[in-house]
Amino acid sequence: MRLGPLQLESNLWLAPLAGYTALPFRLIVRELGGAGLATTELVNARSLLEGRRKALELIQTHPKDRPLAVQLFGTNPEELAEAARRLEERGADVIDLNMGCPAPKVCRTGSGSALLLDKAKAVELAARVVNAVRAPVTVKMRLGWDSRSFSAPELARALAEVGAAAVVVHGRTREQGFSGRVDLAGIRAVVEAAGSMPVLGNGDVATPQAARRMIEATGCAGVSIGRGAFYNPWIFQETLHYLRTGELLPPPSFEERLRLTRRHLELMVEVFGERRGCLMFRKIAPWHARGFGPAAEFRRLVSRLVSLSEFDAILERYLAWRRQFTDERGELLPRYRPRRPEEPAPQPVPTPKRPHSGW
Ligand SMILES: Cc1cc2nc3c(=O)[nH]c(=O)nc-3n(C[C@H](O)[C@H](O)[C@H](O)COP(=O)(O)O)c2cc1C
Repeated sequence: MRLGPLQLESNLWLAPLAGYTALPFRLIVRELGGAGLATTELVNARSLLEGRRKALELIQTHPKDRPLAVQLFGTNPEELAEAARRLEERGADVIDLNMGCPAPKVCRTGSGSALLLDKAKAVELAARVVNAVRAPVTVKMRLGWDSRSFSAPELARALAEVGAAAVVVHGRTREQGFSGRVDLAGIRAVVEAAGSMPVLGNGDVATPQAARRMIEATGCAGVSIGRGAFYNPWIFQETLHYLRTGELLPPPSFEERLRLTRRHLELMVEVFGERRGCLMFRKIAPWHARGFGPAAEFRRLVSRLVSLSEFDAILERYLAWRRQFTDERGELLPRYRPRRPEEPAPQPVPTPKRPHSGW
């Protein structure tokens, strides 16, 4: 897939999940392969210009974290344009503008999904950023504020006219939050309005089959995957293979899942330091454990993790506990095997238990 001057490995993008898709997670996705683009979580343009620690931490990257979109939010065109310029200087490949965040503290300032109610402002902001940088500028949005203001198609058309390189649309309104099903017809309307500008569909894609359904039902140029990737970081590879061949790859083995869990922790420690990385990993590990089969003991032990060296001892204790569910070859007994999401019934994807405020 092409995005402005960039040739992307695929049309499957990692969606931003604040608090989850930080640099360590993006790196494991890159290592597994298949994702065409990854995006940082939303960063306040003003905080970035003020050099605030939190904002600088959010844009942390690594030569292997490429290509990278940095997502900005704000309402001041000057600030957004200047922040975009500085990000481009620091090597951001793509500037993404957030017009979808439903969090009240973001919408109150007129940014995030509040921009879906103010087309003129939204287009002005995008145009200023497009003119400030050479990098492609993308916009992430929802279908509208609520069912009465279904503004995404019209906004997408206007964004294409001022030079946006692509739009990612989550197929729900702000009012819907994460409830109900993603509206594929709504995404289709955005695709049709956007003309030749690529539109990526987003929402509830947790299997390769769901990605194909999204593409077929909406005509979108690609798919952006958030929670489905956090449950299953192999989803990009699996989906690419499925789209090319119609065949599903076998699921990763338990050993491979353990390896990836440990790798994720190592990267958390490298990026955030041992203590903080371990504390942050406590909320991440249960997502990996969803693929382990019985994992109550793992979750219990990992909820107290404070150091990397302790992790191997936790695994050892967990493996001993897990033996009660396995046969003599170490395979999980059939009734304990984690089930793969079924096809064709679309699976609603649960939101994390304690999501980032407002998401
Ligand atoms: C915990 C959490 C944090 C999120 N953070 C962001 C964010 O920083 N920027 C953004 O544009 N969308 C954010 N989103 C929305 C996702 O990118 C995505 O649009 C939404 O989760 C639907 O896609 P999915 O079903 O593939 O997860 C967040 C969603 C969740 C659940």
